[in-house]
Amino acid sequence: MASVNLLLIICFTFIFSPCISAASDSKGFSTNLIHIHSPSSPYKNVKAESLAKDTALESTLSRHAYLRARQQKALQPADFVPPPLIRDKSAFLANLSIGNPPTNVYVVLDTGSDLFWIQCEPCDVCYKQKDPIYNRTKSDSYTEMLCNEPPCLSLGREGQCSDSGSCLYQTSYADGSRTSGLLSYEKVAFTSHYSDEDKTAQVGFGCGLQNLNFVTSSRDGGVLGLGPGLVSLVSQLSAIGKVSKSFAYCFGNLSNPNAGGFLVFGDATYLNGDMTPMVIAEFYYVNLLGIGLGVEEPRLDINSSSFERKPDGSGGVIIDSGSTLSIFPPEVYEVVRNAVVDKLKKGYNISPLTSSPDCFEGKIGRDLPLFPTLVLYLESTGILNDRWSIFLQRYDELFCLGFTSGEGLSIIGTLAQQSYKFGYNLELSTLSIESNPDCGL
Ligand SMILES: *[C@@H]1O[C@H](CO)[C@@H](O)[C@H](O)[C@H]1NC(C)=O
Ligand SMILES: *[C@@H]1O[C@H](CO)[C@@H](O)[C@H](O)[C@H]1NC(C)=O
Ligand SMILES: *[C@@H]1O[C@H](CO)[C@@H](O)[C@H](O)[C@H]1NC(C)=O
Ligand SMILES: *[C@@H]1O[C@H](CO)[C@@H](O)[C@H](O)[C@H]1NC(C)=O
Repeated sequence: MASVNLLLIICFTFIFSPCISAASDSKGFSTNLIHIHSPSSPYKNVKAESLAKDTALESTLSRHAYLRARQQKALQPADFVPPPLIRDKSAFLANLSIGNPPTNVYVVLDTGSDLFWIQCEPCDVCYKQKDPIYNRTKSDSYTEMLCNEPPCLSLGREGQCSDSGSCLYQTSYADGSRTSGLLSYEKVAFTSHYSDEDKTAQVGFGCGLQNLNFVTSSRDGGVLGLGPGLVSLVSQLSAIGKVSKSFAYCFGNLSNPNAGGFLVFGDATYLNGDMTPMVIAEFYYVNLLGIGLGVEEPRLDINSSSFERKPDGSGGVIIDSGSTLSIFPPEVYEVVRNAVVDKLKKGYNISPLTSSPDCFEGKIGRDLPLFPTLVLYLESTGILNDRWSIFLQRYDELFCLGFTSGEGLSIIGTLAQQSYKFGYNLELSTLSIESNPDCGL
């Protein structure tokens, strides 16, 4: 309803310009993604055990547990499972600016949650960040959101009403960090490549006033939720008629700190790849039909019902920006792992470690030339994973599988998404997938 009204107002106000152009010419908002270890990243000097490479497995598993709990709507306040956010080398930060006058903010992308929040002065507890923290009292475009507004209502039990009728949000993460504050409106500016005349939008965001237990190693300025909920930026931008309800991103080489990427909101013309249908529920589900090792090889012997979303809402396969590794149900993981290990043994004379059967001695770059491509066969398209996406170099001379085993929900993680552009069209419920090794726009 809101978007219809806005369009009417635009058409009425600019009665002499063609109405249609307001929608179809708005090419979208984009911003560059910056590798968290990039020379230009504000957090490049945060060592954090070089981002705890060895936590990739743990953090992926705890995220899996959280996503499954949310999926089963089992989250009661008493047994709230906090959403783990991956702050290891898989993290890319989006560069946005907020307020008038503008302040730069660097936020982590998260398709598994909806809220966009940043640290917000004057705050009760703010953690130290390199760039100046956004100060709401300095900005003349800041306004508080009321409890009865749709983004606030959509927060569910993460939202509350203050005595004065302002919308309060609260969210916490698996590492014990949490943020709470005011859901507010502010002007957000993108580094648009498409629409130089209007790079800004007034959107709801979480103004973080108590940002607790954020340790040095997790010092991002906030989180950009990309989920399908009403409060997410993509939903809001389309609700106010700024862009079509779609977004796309591309993560460059995760192992290369100089790799970039992009995030773009709106405009279906930039969603060019082969399309696969998507089911939009609490997450973004795709139809994974099978898996193969070697493009020319037959598919592995996997019963595709392992990937099906069950009538009770469990199971299924999602694309997630917050899991480093992929997760498959045990019976699938078993088959894929065996195929990969078999290839390593026969073709490369490399055997799994007895102490850690998913890990191997060696270097991906040096020891695995011509390793076959792992193919994820999706309905109408597929994702090709080379050795850099099949494995993760954990230590100097130790690499491990880039996927693991978990009951129920399957996850296609960020390792498997590298060097592809994923275009989420929330209106048509399609996901377009396009190989884009350099993540060029
Ligand atoms: C982020 O964007 C701002 C404004 O567009 C720009 O000045 C700044 O250099 C960017 N930061 C990085 C690390 O690229
Ligand atoms: C925020 O801005 C106000 C108004 O300019 C100023 O008085 C206040 O000191 C600022 N707070 C911080 C923490 O910078
Ligand atoms: C990714 O980056 C690493 C480290 O710079 C490099 O060794 C590797 O070749 C890159 N992978 C691809 C596919 O370009
Ligand atoms: C696949 O699994 C389903 C459910 O477990 C079972 O009903 C079906 O017979 C299996 N199909 C094959 C070909 O094994």
